[in-house]
Amino acid sequence: MKLDTKIVRASTKPDEATGAVVPPIFQTATYVLEEVGKDKGFDYTRASNPSRQLLEQHLAEIEGVDYGVCFSSGMSAVDSVLKLLKAGDHVVCSDDVYGGVSRHFNEVLIHYGLEFTYVNSSNPEEVEKAVKSNTKLLWIETPTNPLLKITDLNAMNDIAKKNNLLFGVDATFSTPVFLRPIEFGADIVMHSTTKYLSGHNQIIGGAILTNDKKIFDKMKFIQKTIGAVPSPFDCFLVMLGLRTLHLRMERHNSNAQSVAEFLESHPKVSRVAYPGLKSDPGHLIAKEQMLGFSGMISFELKGGIPSGKNLMNGVKLCLLAESLGSVETMITHPATMTHADVPAVERHARGLTDGLVRLSVGIENKEDIIDDLKQALEKA
Ligand SMILES: Cc1ncc(COP(=O)(O)O)c(C=O)c1O
Repeated sequence: MKLDTKIVRASTKPDEATGAVVPPIFQTATYVLEEVGKDKGFDYTRASNPSRQLLEQHLAEIEGVDYGVCFSSGMSAVDSVLKLLKAGDHVVCSDDVYGGVSRHFNEVLIHYGLEFTYVNSSNPEEVEKAVKSNTKLLWIETPTNPLLKITDLNAMNDIAKKNNLLFGVDATFSTPVFLRPIEFGADIVMHSTTKYLSGHNQIIGGAILTNDKKIFDKMKFIQKTIGAVPSPFDCFLVMLGLRTLHLRMERHNSNAQSVAEFLESHPKVSRVAYPGLKSDPGHLIAKEQMLGFSGMISFELKGGIPSGKNLMNGVKLCLLAESLGSVETMITHPATMTHADVPAVERHARGLTDGLVRLSVGIENKEDIIDDLKQALEKA
């Protein structure tokens, strides 16, 4: 089955009892046993639920792997991966990760004896240099949030294998439509299903995908023990959203390419980060390892912070909001929104300036998006 057919049809057989085309929502906390010690595969919804199981199977099929485990948020999915480690272990992590991830590492997990080093993962030499004798996990985001930096996954896999590291990739920005980290040797792929996978700003969720049965068993154990599970209704909503993933991603991608080219040619714009632009430092690697460049753009204006704020306050069609990957175009100020908890010194050191604007290009007509940005740029 081709990927677009899988996206529409995988794991979704009509309901055997009723013929319903859309699978029912199993909104139950518990299940009746046939007799002591004999259930029908489900005993308690924190451990397992048919709506969640269906979503886990569907995500695994789309990602092209054997196993999927779903969580109540992208953050609880990341947290559950980190629970594979123990006190004293060290993690090498991309420096430009989502602000909530570095906040969790630096302000929570550090108190449990884990150690973190952040590196520019676009530079494999820097990554290799950061590996220590107690390094256990290489955690990569590509493209990164918000600077859209691209990491060469083949190079990361070489480093991970040479040093016996668990290799995880947060592929939220690229989605399985454009990138399959497992094909490059990753052990674990993570998605915030809040974003493109659900696609309509309707839920918060996360997922871990893997081909490794041992990792899967541990993740299932952590999932049922911690209990950070998505509700059956949320699983159902992600399933509905998923069925148009390929169509939405094509449109996010083509719209973003046009918007990035428009921004790059605009006299008030000083810098545009979009891996689909030939001028982007990550363009060649992205072209090699991805099937599309997705829908996220970051840019800065020549007028700096005041101009950026005027632009964000001046849009009429784009929504000034946190989050990304939904059908609506959303504009975000990382320094005060998604990355507000990253200390200013750290933000600036990694190139995340206070004037940076992040755009999640939606699936509206691209001319309307560009016209909206044009009118807002006039006032910027
Ligand atoms: C790249 C990335 N990873 C993880 C997360 C966390 O996901 P969630 O908000 O679903 O917890 C986000 C949220 O924006 C993100 O952008």
